[in-house]
Amino acid sequence: MTTDTLIESSTATSGPGDLLAIDAETADRLFREAHTTHAFSDEPVTDTQIQAAWDLVRWAPTSMNTLPLRLLVVRTPEAKQRLGAHMADFNRDKTLAAPVTIIAAADPAFHRHLPTLAPFREGLADQLDPQTELREGMARTNALIQIGYLIVGLRAAGLSVGPMTGFDAAGIDAEFFGDSGWRTLVAINAGYPADEGAHFPRQARLDFHQVAEVL
Ligand SMILES: Cc1cc2nc3c(=O)[nH]c(=O)nc-3n(C[C@H](O)[C@H](O)[C@H](O)COP(=O)(O)O)c2cc1C
Repeated sequence: MTTDTLIESSTATSGPGDLLAIDAETADRLFREAHTTHAFSDEPVTDTQIQAAWDLVRWAPTSMNTLPLRLLVVRTPEAKQRLGAHMADFNRDKTLAAPVTIIAAADPAFHRHLPTLAPFREGLADQLDPQTELREGMARTNALIQIGYLIVGLRAAGLSVGPMTGFDAAGIDAEFFGDSGWRTLVAINAGYPADEGAHFPRQARLDFHQVAEVL
């Protein structure tokens, strides 16, 4: 495959030049026409929909199958107010108004699940237990990879999403994760686009040749 054909496939919407293994409609839905959403309609989002997204996302690769991503689904007005207090001003109103906000966090104590998730690495949980800094780094790196999948997974479940990092992460951690030790990475509003003001204008993207070197 040449650089030229890859660039062609990254911009094509359909046709013989499209080298994708998924159909054009799915590629549009999950990628090309998926748009960060800032205003949502009143249509509710069910836990079952979020679970359907997770049932896809859980297959994402993580180092040694650690799966450190944890989710807090914030939906009640009371919980939204607790979250809103820690959001940046420019994110507060839309977060309070969204049907749900999913706090995507990393669990540095992910190693507790390793006997189940990574039985091929016998004793690893005990080895990692005293290595707090290593676990924190592993949790963050792998949870961030899972969050990328989560955004696509929520879109595959038919939802529009607005990921945000404009918040006081330590404040959210103290508010919700005092017992668990989870570390907030990204908050994701989810729902269906409002009739007006849902999206900001689409900005440019980089082409393959601008981001990749081929040796
Ligand atoms: C990790 C991450 C953090 C973001 N933080 C914020 C935020 O705090 N507030 C906000 O309004 N948008 C935020 N965004 C939205 C981005 O600006 C948006 O996804 C990007 O500009 C692409 O927009 P488009 O999907 O409409 O093309 C964030 C996106 C990501 C992935």
